[in-house]
Amino acid sequence: MSFTFPYICLETVDSTNTYLKNHPETWTVPYYTVRAKEQTSGRGRYGRSWISGRDNLAFSFTFRPPSTSRLSAVTIYAGLALRSILHKICGQKLLIKWPNDIIFEGKKLAGILTEMVENGNANIIIGIGLNLHDNMIPREWANTVTSLKQISNKDYEATELLNQIMNEMREYLSGFTVPLPEKIIIEFTTYMDRAANLVSIMENGKIIKKKYPLSGINQYGQLVTEDPSGSPKIIDVYEVGYPE
Ligand code: BTN
Repeated sequence: MSFTFPYICLETVDSTNTYLKNHPETWTVPYYTVRAKEQTSGRGRYGRSWISGRDNLAFSFTFRPPSTSRLSAVTIYAGLALRSILHKICGQKLLIKWPNDIIFEGKKLAGILTEMVENGNANIIIGIGLNLHDNMIPREWANTVTSLKQISNKDYEATELLNQIMNEMREYLSGFTVPLPEKIIIEFTTYMDRAANLVSIMENGKIIKKKYPLSGINQYGQLVTEDPSGSPKIIDVYEVGYPE
């Protein structure tokens, strides 16, 4: 299969995000994409590990916003693009747990790890992990994790899927601007998983889980919640996690 973006596929690597971080020559190549059939140290948000077996899809690509940007805004675009294409592919109702987990009926289908690399803060790496099959999902996660196969009873070809996802990513990210346009904020709040209101916040170096009513996102892609007194509380990507 041929791609309209630079693409390599590795048999095994520690993490595709780490691979791009370690190859600065890729940072300035738009949408340089690296897939690994197997990751030995896949990384998730908040320092968690991401386990994906050989049958699943794990890849990362470079994104260079037109100007120095906010990570929170990039994560919103990436989440919307992924939700949109997966919905078109499987036809199911998919939601986004802020900032960009893709959720089907309360279970996680895909996750995105967005990281800035140290080069004037203008280069970004976006890593996507998508569960295609159930075979690598540990039994104890059965209530919290799902796969494309489980929700649509179909098998998907990983390379073809990657190509479709990248085309949608490029479509969305080609319109990337901060502050976020109103239509992006509306699209996000339309598909936001409001049941996922248990927000973990970093306080004094510790992660504390608190329930907040979720209001939506602001024009920087930050989460807008309410504190117990009813005042708005803004949460940014780097200070939030979700319950295991
Ligand atoms: C999360 O939900 O916490 C984010 C998971 C992101 C996993 C992907 S798999 C490809 C890329 N390489 C990594 O090490 N992580 C991301």
